[in-house]
Amino acid sequence: LTVDGKSFQFPTVEGSEHEKAIDISNLRDHTGYVTLDKGYKNTGATQSAITFLDGEQGILRYRGYSIEELAAKASFLEVAYLLIYGELPTNEQYTTFENAIRRHTLVNEDMRKIFEGFPVNAHPMGVLSSLVSAMSTFYPDSYDDKAEDKTDLHIIRLLAKLPTMATWSYKKSQGHPVNYPKNTLDYIPNFLHMMFALPVEEYTVDPVVADALNVLLILHADHEQNCSTSTVRLVGSSRANIYSSVSAGINALWGPLHGGANQEVIEMLEDIRNDGGDVAKYVEMAKNAKQTGFRLFGFGHRVYKNFDPRAKIIKKAADDVLSKLGVNDPVLEIAKGLEEAALNDDYFIQRKLYPNVDFYSGIIYRALGIPTNMFTVMFAIGRLPGWIAQWLEMRAQKEPIGRPRQIYTGSTMREFVPM
Ligand code: MLT
Repeated sequence: LTVDGKSFQFPTVEGSEHEKAIDISNLRDHTGYVTLDKGYKNTGATQSAITFLDGEQGILRYRGYSIEELAAKASFLEVAYLLIYGELPTNEQYTTFENAIRRHTLVNEDMRKIFEGFPVNAHPMGVLSSLVSAMSTFYPDSYDDKAEDKTDLHIIRLLAKLPTMATWSYKKSQGHPVNYPKNTLDYIPNFLHMMFALPVEEYTVDPVVADALNVLLILHADHEQNCSTSTVRLVGSSRANIYSSVSAGINALWGPLHGGANQEVIEMLEDIRNDGGDVAKYVEMAKNAKQTGFRLFGFGHRVYKNFDPRAKIIKKAADDVLSKLGVNDPVLEIAKGLEEAALNDDYFIQRKLYPNVDFYSGIIYRALGIPTNMFTVMFAIGRLPGWIAQWLEMRAQKEPIGRPRQIYTGSTMREFVPM
């Protein structure tokens, strides 16, 4: 079938029920080469008005606003408000939103008891997703489908409590007691206080660290239908509550092919450094991955055929932050060396393998004092507003329950012979 000069293939059998079900008037609901197939009802594609992404041009916009501009001028909570409610807040709306979040940063002490049961070496992502899921049991009206008027309060609770719970794992790993939130502080300084303040010392938040974190969280705040976001929508499409849906998103993000990639990147850079830092050798190994088994993490992206626009901003931020903090991290030089070698190599150029958002973010997190196993947790804190916005949109659009299409490839009929 050809629409606007473009060819589309429909997975239909001529004359089948499915073919008859396709409404020809909807054929304009297509973007690029992906067809929104309403005949299959919310299976492989969805409409969304939250994040615009042009992989050819390397453009990323939240609700129409350029991500570069937001990262340079806005606060993370402003961006969260924009994603969730669709508009940038007025001063008054911002104050109300921020104050509501401040009021809900404390986490129920019984949730702490659940947390205490986790082993000291538990991965913080497993802990975080469990605690977010447990929130539904503490706020049972979250799974009462008729209590939709409470949704806004659940959103505020999630935004307020996620950073608090996120710091618990780190504190435990250090053998330190957890810090209660200090609600005179803004969102990011409060998180830093809960992470790094020690009982006997006065802790002052370094504005360089807070600003860098603000940029990183904004850059991660949404990225349209990736693995974790579509998980949140899919789980939510069964009318599962927001805590369960976001918890599922956290689990999806944990994987090394998704949010866990920046942890893999830093571990890879460390391995290269420990092996003498020979960048050219590793570029060759990446080109011969089948033989060497070496995979270059943080390169290439399913959507960006140019540069990931976030990677450019993060690379510059890495330079700025490390120099402002006076941190000399040798892996930054290795990362830059890898990027340069790869960008001048035909193998990478032809395959359009450019550094992505995960390539430099870990280096900044490390300079800020955030340990490697917390990198994905930082991603989750950043992505939370996006997940919430996508969950709300999915409900507002009254999308039917998700049901991915399956093409059966197994045996058609086998005879059961009892043992
Ligand atoms: C993201 O930010 O979610 C990642 O780039 C993953 C993706 O786009 O699939």
